Amino acid sequence: MIKLAPSILSADFACIKDDIASIERAGAAYVHIDVMDGRFVPNITWGPKVVRDLRKHSSLTFDCHLMIVEPERYVEQFVKAGADIVTFHLEATSHAQRLLAHIRSLGAKAGISICPQTPVSMLEDLIEDIDLILVMSVNPGFGGQRFIPRALEKIRQARALVESAGVTCEIEVDGGITLQNARSVADAGADVLVAGSAIFDTTDCGETVREFRRVLDGVAAR
Ligand code: DX5
Ligand code: ZN
Repeated sequence: MIKLAPSILSADFACIKDDIASIERAGAAYVHIDVMDGRFVPNITWGPKVVRDLRKHSSLTFDCHLMIVEPERYVEQFVKAGADIVTFHLEATSHAQRLLAHIRSLGAKAGISICPQTPVSMLEDLIEDIDLILVMSVNPGFGGQRFIPRALEKIRQARALVESAGVTCEIEVDGGITLQNARSVADAGADVLVAGSAIFDTTDCGETVREFRRVLDGVAAR
């Protein structure tokens, strides 16, 4: 089953707990938590305390997407706060293999993300250390941007890399995903779709998650 990971970046920050409960009831698999530091990306969001506080209210998989410089300084805090998946950017560290192994050693799943300018081939020598590849389909930093079509080819390349290596590794896609393009993103080989504004800029986020599920349930299981 293709998973849906609503990004609470586009939620009303004063109502996050209730919104997470709504998406959970409606069939979301992950809650995608975007961490931004104002340095790797221009925007600022939140740190580990928000993860810890939300953790008490949800049993969803917490999928933390770190858009920060020097991610090695913070991964342990996010795991201790309750992150199940910790994803950092390849572009943000010189020692990605070490950091992937460190995240796994802390008991979380290790994710690595690539910005639109970074080729999938940069992950070839890391593939055995990765639990999740996050293909960015917008430039990270803000919700509500348009999907970059080139990402579809990168998803296919990531799928081919995972299959040729014979590893268990999810492919997640983030940015500009809508009810209209979700099917083509899944068909290209994605396992997990992140959607922020397409879910939280609607009047009923739970109902929108159900609409996404109807679209994704039509995609054959991999
Ligand atoms: C953007 C974030 C995304 C963002 C996606 O840098 O990583 O997770 O919330 O938002 P939409 O789905 O609106 O493009
Ligand atoms: Zn994200």
